[in-house]
Amino acid sequence: MNIAVLASGSGTNFQAIIDRVKDGYIPAKIAILVSDNKEAYAIKRAEEAGIETFVLSPKKFKTREEYDSQIVKKLKEKDIDLVVLAGFMRLISPYFVKAYKDKILNIHPALLPSFKGTHGVKDALKYGVKVTGPTCHFVEEELDNGAIILQETVSVSSDDTEETLHNKIHKKEYEIYPKAIKLFVEGKIKVEGRKIKIKDK
Ligand code: GAR
Repeated sequence: MNIAVLASGSGTNFQAIIDRVKDGYIPAKIAILVSDNKEAYAIKRAEEAGIETFVLSPKKFKTREEYDSQIVKKLKEKDIDLVVLAGFMRLISPYFVKAYKDKILNIHPALLPSFKGTHGVKDALKYGVKVTGPTCHFVEEELDNGAIILQETVSVSSDDTEETLHNKIHKKEYEIYPKAIKLFVEGKIKVEGRKIKIKDK
């Protein structure tokens, strides 16, 4: 199975996935790393791991569909079976979602459906929750709304800053994201509307 990872930033989740493919936990190939940001550290991680990169700036595209059609074209060329969003900070278009229906995963740093959007950690901290944590879910047209595959919790302490809290969440992300990808690759995830059934569980 061929995986494409899409990342905009530092790519620590991408690194966790690279490591779990390398050690055989995820039986698949990362065929390409796609980024919308030429400065993303994720690109260096791909180069170090010998993974092909495709960097496309959204600036010269008028619509999200036009931009996404270039990415989908590349993914089709590479025979991609699974698209993994790992800190890809762009909303993908309905065109992209349709092209890879039930084959796009995302990791979000809050317990969905709470704290959707690009500031999941900050918003949860500001709200004063005592428990938060990452959510791995399928991607649908509506932002952070797809069926939930796995979630994990972390406790929020009174002296947590956005940084310390995000560090705790990141650690859990590095566990649940490779796990969800492995389940997908092994055909163990069954989607029934909003409900996800995991075989062997
Ligand atoms: C992760 O914590 C991920 O949950 C979050 O961006 C971070 C990327 O970190 N994604 C979102 O907020 C999406 N709405 P990384 O680049 O080190 O993997």
